[in-house]
Amino acid sequence: MKKSVRKAIIAGNWKMNKTRPEAKALLEEIKPLVANAAGNVEVIACVPFTNLETAMTVTEGSNVKIGAENVHFEKSGAFTGEISADMLIELGVEYVVIGHSERRQYFGETDETVNKRTKAALAAGLKPIVCVGELKWERECGITEEVVGKQVKLDLFDVSAEDAKKTVIAYEPVWAIGTGLTATPDQAEEVCAFIRATLAKMYDEATAEAITIQYGGSMNAANCAELLAKPNIDGGLIGGASLKAADFNVIVQAAVNG
Ligand code: 13P
Repeated sequence: MKKSVRKAIIAGNWKMNKTRPEAKALLEEIKPLVANAAGNVEVIACVPFTNLETAMTVTEGSNVKIGAENVHFEKSGAFTGEISADMLIELGVEYVVIGHSERRQYFGETDETVNKRTKAALAAGLKPIVCVGELKWERECGITEEVVGKQVKLDLFDVSAEDAKKTVIAYEPVWAIGTGLTATPDQAEEVCAFIRATLAKMYDEATAEAITIQYGGSMNAANCAELLAKPNIDGGLIGGASLKAADFNVIVQAAVNG
């Protein structure tokens, strides 16, 4: 199986941005621009919980899919402030970002909770976008592969091959997020290839070849084509540039043409 048969996925991660009217306006702008990607490239907007219902309504009948930015692992109960997978499914949400470095860094997310969230999301029928990536000093110490390999193994622990194929892995080197510092295409490819090799050991070659691996971290209109041209980079998880319709569209078109 080759890159051409894997699904290319370009996903915006809006983080804590956009009120409902702003979300509506941005999605209305994005929709016609990316309409030609249908069937070829999956286009997703992962939006704050408060924007999900609006986003579902605005994108109905279009090829823009909607994702959430987190999900809790319990089905229901006394977890103030949390949102369950069933609540997201009921809204029609298809994807969910799990284990973003900002959640690991600021909100006590661990590989154990990432694993629990991933399994809960899959059990409910959501497609998880599981984020992994090394810190700057871990790269400087030369332990990028140890760190990322451990995250992939722990985050997907006890996830079946069938479910792993529904999971997207986003390689997001933490030092490249929101910093304007992008991993070079070769650095990004090296780690994405390593992630695929790790998946092949955990599952088998065919499963690893079927899993979409994204790069994230200051991906923008200027650098996306070179990154997306790499054999193991199947898409992007985009923060800042996903908040501007024109820039986001350049990235989508790079995937369409790639
Ligand atoms: P930036 O594209 O703003 O660097 O953010 C990347 C990211 O964290 C996507 O999840």
